[in-house]
Amino acid sequence: MTGNSLTGRRALITGASEGIGAAIARQLAQAGVRVAVAARRAEPLGKLAREIDAVALPGDLAEFDQIGKIVSSAAKALGGLDILVNNAGIMLLSPIAEGRVDDWKRMFDLNVVSLLAATAAALPYLRAGTGGDIVNVASMAAIRVPSAAGAVYAATKSAVRAVSEGMRLEFASEGIRTIVVSPGLVATNIADSVSDPALREGVRSLQRDKAISADDVALAVLYAIAQPRNVQTTEITMMSIHQGRAGVG
Ligand SMILES: NC(=O)c1ccc[n+]([C@@H]2O[C@H](COP(=O)([O-])OP(=O)(O)OC[C@H]3O[C@@H](n4cnc5c(N)ncnc54)[C@H](OP(=O)(O)O)[C@@H]3O)[C@@H](O)[C@H]2O)c1
Repeated sequence: MTGNSLTGRRALITGASEGIGAAIARQLAQAGVRVAVAARRAEPLGKLAREIDAVALPGDLAEFDQIGKIVSSAAKALGGLDILVNNAGIMLLSPIAEGRVDDWKRMFDLNVVSLLAATAAALPYLRAGTGGDIVNVASMAAIRVPSAAGAVYAATKSAVRAVSEGMRLEFASEGIRTIVVSPGLVATNIADSVSDPALREGVRSLQRDKAISADDVALAVLYAIAQPRNVQTTEITMMSIHQGRAGVG
């Protein structure tokens, strides 16, 4: 693989049954990348896979024993792996005083631990090629805590930025680049899993006026991985011109 050609490269995108992950899968497929997509819901995943001629790998990335299988199945189906997009994530908003330990664990498990486990599982395949890319989807919330109820979500995304720096330090000498993409508000259904109706509607209302599209984020991912191999895009932060204030999303 030379220069910045993406044709024929092989990518696994997590959390790709909808939202930002699905948009990344579409953009990469359009750029000639061969794509495998993973998420829990087999039906929308299969539909997307048929649309873009990708490999669908249904599974729960918060169940750590499934991660190795998802990664190896992707590599087997595609004949290797050059790009891992760690996008799967959840945002469960609540005040700290409510003490929702299960929600905090669920967020750290998926947003941080499964991202690390998927990366470790993908590493042998990324090493086997001529230059791998790890794309970690963090958030503007990592840079500025958006609200009290969003503090723990923001903490998981701060952790994503920290471990991404670690990945860069650990893997750059092997030609593997680690790219963080940190969007502000993006128009997706991420608020659906917020249990408090007022908090849920608060996010939705902000998204209506102040969000960029999932496709905008996908184009940023495409930009970063299409750079010449010696160019390491460390982080892309991006938000709607209408958002006006970093830290939400
Ligand atoms: N939307 C925003 O404003 C925003 C802003 C900044 C950063 N982000 C980040 O961007 C990423 C994508 O978010 P989104 O807005 O696209 O959210 P979304 O529309 O809710 O999509 C989340 C994706 O993750 C998958 N997923 C959730 N739990 C999973 C699990 N346990 N195992 C496997 N897949 C799982 C979902 O599929 P299944 O339900 O089928 O599993 C879905 O495909 C997240 O990391 C999020 O934190 C979002």
